[in-house]
Amino acid sequence: MPVSEKMLAFSSQSSMIRKMFEEGTQMKARFGADNVFDFSLGNPDVAPPDRFNEAIRELSEDETPGIHAYMPNAGYPWVRKIIAERMSAEQGISIKNDDVLMTCGAAGALNVVLKALLNPGDEVLLLAPYFVEYHFYVDNHGGVSRVVKTDEEFNLDLNAIEEAINQKTRAIIINSPNNPTGQIYSQESLIALGKLLEDTGRRFGTVITLISDEPYRKIVFGNHTVASIFKSYSNSIVLSSYSKDLSLPGERIGYLAVHPDIDDKTALLDAMTLANRILGFVNAPALMQRVVAKLKGISVDCSIYEQRREKFCKLLKNAGYSFIPPKGAFYIFPKSPIADDVTFCSILQEEKILAVPGKGFGLGGYFRLAFCTDEKIIERSASAFAAAIRKAENV
Ligand SMILES: Cc1ncc(COP(=O)(O)O)c(C=O)c1O
Repeated sequence: MPVSEKMLAFSSQSSMIRKMFEEGTQMKARFGADNVFDFSLGNPDVAPPDRFNEAIRELSEDETPGIHAYMPNAGYPWVRKIIAERMSAEQGISIKNDDVLMTCGAAGALNVVLKALLNPGDEVLLLAPYFVEYHFYVDNHGGVSRVVKTDEEFNLDLNAIEEAINQKTRAIIINSPNNPTGQIYSQESLIALGKLLEDTGRRFGTVITLISDEPYRKIVFGNHTVASIFKSYSNSIVLSSYSKDLSLPGERIGYLAVHPDIDDKTALLDAMTLANRILGFVNAPALMQRVVAKLKGISVDCSIYEQRREKFCKLLKNAGYSFIPPKGAFYIFPKSPIADDVTFCSILQEEKILAVPGKGFGLGGYFRLAFCTDEKIIERSASAFAAAIRKAENV
């Protein structure tokens, strides 16, 4: 067998979302796309803002010599300056151009950070439920994931985090607004987390880096806001992308910033810049760097997601599902009416609903619904959700 055993095992672990995607494609071919309720993928369907297309058109006229050449691996200095200004406003703390790196999406940023931080065997805390790829990225760089539970509302469980920290703990990855729960961590809880990391790191004579993965920062509902990580803890790195808030996941444009007072800042930034290169990204896509630099303050129309969220929550509630209404991102993570979430997702599938079992996110007993789907599909799914919960009662 020419494939490594580890990759074979990873492929089967990551198969839940892919399986849904493949089955969804087959079902749509069989029953027609409008007759399948596909809530499996977090692939934004809301069109990017018009200004994005205009910016591409403007930039396509630019014939400045060298425009397609290699650039500094951290990205165009003038683009990093613009991102630093935006992040300073967001984080409420002054971030310098050199503290920013342009990356190939949030996924590229996570790999760059972990490559720069981890020694073999170092542990990284992941909070369940979590974006499943974290586990693979940690492994990419010789680390070991340690999964920690969250509380019953998917908020930070500081006691559980404290219990999981040991001499080998090198980092913790948090994600707020969260995929798959839609939870947003409060500023108070982040400050308490920062203090815990500081205190336990001191106790073990180590530095624990807080990695905040924030691609959903701008997709928030009602008057919820996303707190500043940099105000909570100085050994922190914030990373994000334009995949979700500009609907550009295929364009692979993201960025990261380190806290201005992070330990060993110069060595860390040098290591991350080199990682960007040697992981094979070399640099973030040139055209997209220039495009996003032009799009100050622009993101997709969040009211579209907000409306879908209202409709979806209402119909799930009416059908008898139990869930925490999401504060941000575009997912709902209801409790499975039966303990076995994989079986329940099969029951949903019999009703032509595609959802991903919570097990795929490291937390069984739940399932994830992504509302990257037209409102009409959500509306039409009401009776199918009601039928599935009735069927589950007889399992
Ligand atoms: C929580 C989370 N982090 C990171 C990513 C990867 O984002 P990107 O496409 O910008 O690499 C995703 C994508 O779904 C995500 O949900």
